[in-house]
Amino acid sequence: MTSHRITLLAGDGIGPEITAVARELLDAVSVRHGFELRYDEQPIGGAAIDATGEPLPPSTLEACREADAVLLAAIGSPQYDSLPRDKRPESGLLGLRAGLGLFANLRPVKIIPALAGASSLKPEVIEGVDLLVVRELTGGVYFGTPKGRVEADGHVRAFNTMAYSDFEIDRIARVGFDLALQRGGRLCSVDKANVLDVSQLWRDRVEAIATDYPDVALSHMYVDNAAMQLVRAPKQFDVILTSNLFGDILSDEAAMLTGSIGMLPSASLGSSGPGLFEPIHGSAPDIAGQDLANPMAMVLSAAMLLRIGLKQNAAATDLEAAVERTLEAGFRTGDLMAEGCTQLGCRAMGEQLLAALEG
Ligand code: IPM
Ligand code: MG
Repeated sequence: MTSHRITLLAGDGIGPEITAVARELLDAVSVRHGFELRYDEQPIGGAAIDATGEPLPPSTLEACREADAVLLAAIGSPQYDSLPRDKRPESGLLGLRAGLGLFANLRPVKIIPALAGASSLKPEVIEGVDLLVVRELTGGVYFGTPKGRVEADGHVRAFNTMAYSDFEIDRIARVGFDLALQRGGRLCSVDKANVLDVSQLWRDRVEAIATDYPDVALSHMYVDNAAMQLVRAPKQFDVILTSNLFGDILSDEAAMLTGSIGMLPSASLGSSGPGLFEPIHGSAPDIAGQDLANPMAMVLSAAMLLRIGLKQNAAATDLEAAVERTLEAGFRTGDLMAEGCTQLGCRAMGEQLLAALEG
C-alpha cells in the first residue's frame, strides 16, 4: 500500500481544533482510496515557544524536510507580541517558508455557489469568481535587508527593504504563467512600478518571461487599482501574480469575496521538497478553544495537500465535494451563518463533513 508521511503542525489558537477535524477526514478518505497516511505532529509558533523557547525548533524544521507534505493550521497569539521579533510565532512561520524554500504561494479564490449570499458584495458581482493569487513568499520586504530600528538625533527610525533579484522574480513569474496555461490563460501582474524601483524590475522581468508564454494574455496593474478592482469587478481576474507584501494584502481582500476568510486554503511550494499547505486565516485567538472555528479552510488545505503534494487527486476531489455538500445542506459555522441555515460548532461541522464524505 502506498504510504505518505505528513508533518502536522497544529500551532496556536484554533489550530488544534481544526487540525483534529482535518485529520479525521484525511484518515477517512485515505482508507477509502487505499493509501496510508503517517503523521508526525510537531510544535510551531506559540506552542513551540512554550515548549522550547523557539517558534521554529530545529526538530520541527527537520521533520518538515523529511515529510512528503506539511499541513499547518495557524500560528500566533497576542500574548507573544511583546517578545523580540525573531522569537515571535510569525518568525517561526517565516523561518519555515524560508527553510523549505517555499517561494510560491498559491491562494485560490473560488465562489462556492451555496455561499454566493454570504459575501458582503452583491451576488451578481461575485457569482462565478474563480481566481488564483500567486504570491511570492520568500523575498521582498518580508525578508529584505537592511532592516531595523535606530536612534539618532533624538528620534527613533525604523526601516525595512523591499528588494527582489531578477532570478526571484523569474521563478515566481514562471509559476504564474504555467498556472495561467492550466487555467483561463490570463495573467495579471500586480506591482507599484509607477513609484517603486523594485516594482519596475518586477515588471521588466515579467515582460521578459512572457516571451516564453505566447499563449498567456499578460496584463499589468498597480496594486492600489488591483485592490479596487477586486471588489469592483473580481470576475476579470484569472491568475494574479504579485510580490510578498502585496500578495499578503490582496489575498485577504480576495478571501472576503467568498464571505469568510474561514473558507480559503493555500499551498506553498518550492522547486523541490515537500510543500506546505495551510488555511490563509490566522489563529483567531478570540474564539480559540470554544468550538466555534470554521474547519473548512483547513479541510480544503488538506485537499490541496492531497492533490498537489501527494498526487491523490480522487481523494482531494472527495474532500472538496464533502465541503460543498455540507454547505448545500445548509450547515454553517458562525462566520458564515445565514437565515434558514443550521449553525454548528467546529466539531459538529467535522461530523457533518465526515457524513457528507461517506454519504
Ligand atoms: C499569511 C499571514 C502571514 C504573512 C503572517 C502570519 C506572518 O498573514 O500567511 O498571509 O504575513 O505571510
Ligand atoms: Mg496574511
